[in-house]
Amino acid sequence: MSELAGPLADRYGAQAPANRLATANAVLDLLLKHRSVRSYLPTPLPAGTLETLVAAAQSASTSSNLQAWSVVAVEDPERKARLSQLVGNQAHVRAAPLFLVWLADLARLEEIARRQALASEGLDYLELLLVGVIDAALAAQNAAVALESLALSCVYIGGIRNQPEAVAAELGLPPGVFGVFGMCVGYEDPARPAQVKPRLPQGAVLHREQYSLKAQVPAIDDYDRVMAEFYESHGMQQPDWSSTVANRVKSANALNGRDRLAAALHALGFKIR
Ligand SMILES: Cc1cc2nc3c(=O)[nH]c(=O)nc-3n(C[C@H](O)[C@H](O)[C@H](O)COP(=O)(O)O)c2cc1C
Repeated sequence: MSELAGPLADRYGAQAPANRLATANAVLDLLLKHRSVRSYLPTPLPAGTLETLVAAAQSASTSSNLQAWSVVAVEDPERKARLSQLVGNQAHVRAAPLFLVWLADLARLEEIARRQALASEGLDYLELLLVGVIDAALAAQNAAVALESLALSCVYIGGIRNQPEAVAAELGLPPGVFGVFGMCVGYEDPARPAQVKPRLPQGAVLHREQYSLKAQVPAIDDYDRVMAEFYESHGMQQPDWSSTVANRVKSANALNGRDRLAAALHALGFKIR
């Protein structure tokens, strides 16, 4: 067995790619072992952790070096409690010592244009919102990898988009700033460890030269089997993955309020032309 074989088996079950490099390294090992953690100890983070995570986040690539993102670090228990309600009553937001809200930030760009006595019409376009969202996601994922390298854990919180205006009011966001997702950060409670969750076989996501939907069908069927085994072996009662996906996209109602995201973004000052 190569050093990669074990982590790949955990990530893919029986569907791990046959072709792989012979040896792992510390970065690959860390990436392959990622787990979202939803049970935290109250242990505070060592001084300097937040600033180090932000340095890692700022080291990510950023579209045209616009750096169109910001992050709000929330540690106040009462604010975390209010945010936990806004994101759909997720208890881990209260339990984690640090809650980060990653922002698409066009307000700073607007301010810079204003100081240059220039218009900022470009900010009115969908493209710039996407730039902010992509920048925020890349920055956040760099922070996620960094914190896992420090034996910390995290879970992203998309529920931050359930009620964007209320989140903006709670965090004092100006027009042109939007909470893309939150992130709980802390030390995992060893009494309730999270598991590495299998991913789709590469036959579903890796296309060579041209995309094919048809070629993915066997991989999807395989994944439903791998996930059924995963849930069974961890004593979890879950419908199969394909049913879960189909139910998540079947109607606007299944979006947990995010069906009104376009209206919320307009209210937060994004014109999205
Ligand atoms: C943008 C984004 C939003 C997410 N939102 C939530 C959330 O609101 N609550 C939650 O418990 N997990 C959330 N997750 C975690 C996913 O459920 C998790 O990453 C996925 O099930 C795969 O599991 P793993 O991260 O342990 O491999 C989110 C993940 C991402 C990337």
